[in-house]
Amino acid sequence: MQLVETIDEMRHVVADARTKGQSIAFVPTMGALHEGHLTLVDEAKRVAEVVVMSVFVNPLQFSPTEDFARYPRTLDEDARLAADRGVNFLFTPTKEDIYPEHAPVVYVHPGTVGKEWEGAVRPHHFEGVLTVVAKLFHIVMPDVAVFGQKDLQQVAAVKAMVRDLNFPVGILVAPIVRDPDGMAMSSRNRYLSPKERELGTILSKALFAMRDAFMRGERRASALEAIGWRMLERVVGLTPRYLAVVNADTFQRVNTVHHGDAAVGAVRVSDDSA
Ligand code: PAF
Repeated sequence: MQLVETIDEMRHVVADARTKGQSIAFVPTMGALHEGHLTLVDEAKRVAEVVVMSVFVNPLQFSPTEDFARYPRTLDEDARLAADRGVNFLFTPTKEDIYPEHAPVVYVHPGTVGKEWEGAVRPHHFEGVLTVVAKLFHIVMPDVAVFGQKDLQQVAAVKAMVRDLNFPVGILVAPIVRDPDGMAMSSRNRYLSPKERELGTILSKALFAMRDAFMRGERRASALEAIGWRMLERVVGLTPRYLAVVNADTFQRVNTVHHGDAAVGAVRVSDDSA
């Protein structure tokens, strides 16, 4: 695996691969890699000859009150994991290279796809995500890019951007990878105390209960949401932020649930003893 630290070098690598007629799959990440990211690499390897992964903690998608400064940065370990899994090029640009003017003048707006749910609790988050993904797509110029289903609203926003702005990039989605306790793997899980982690798994259980009720034939979104809300309410240390059944492409709430719709939710957990 080759480390690529600048945009110019990345463009050179891409041009070289194109000259050889090789196809390119791209896995954008913010590092602190775990098995969830590595399954994105597996998917990328399945569909293309060259796999480029980026590690860039994108300041634009963090609000001033979020964890940009303390977001885990584990580049040596990331490089080892990426190389072992078969990444060919690990692109690690600096903030100054990606945002030479500190912040861009032009942003990519997610429109209605990014308005509710995660977009409502994290204003401007999806603008930051889409702007950096657009820039990375222009730099890496992949044939396909692979994203994780865990961040399903991000997937919907990226697909909408690719469609509406005519990016010549196919978007592949790899399934959520869960730990044995049911929690979706995430770089931020390492912030959780054992108690917070236990509380966090209640969200997975609520989403599974909603899915199970759907499988038993319940089609009213309100009834499925009520099942989930009942499990989240009145749990000490857990504050629900949102829970809903949505169309997985538009991220608009549905009334009647169909196969392919998604139950999405977020909770805040706190451990007063920690
Ligand atoms: O999913 C992530 O890790 C980030 O949002 C992404 C897509 C790498 C953009 O910074």
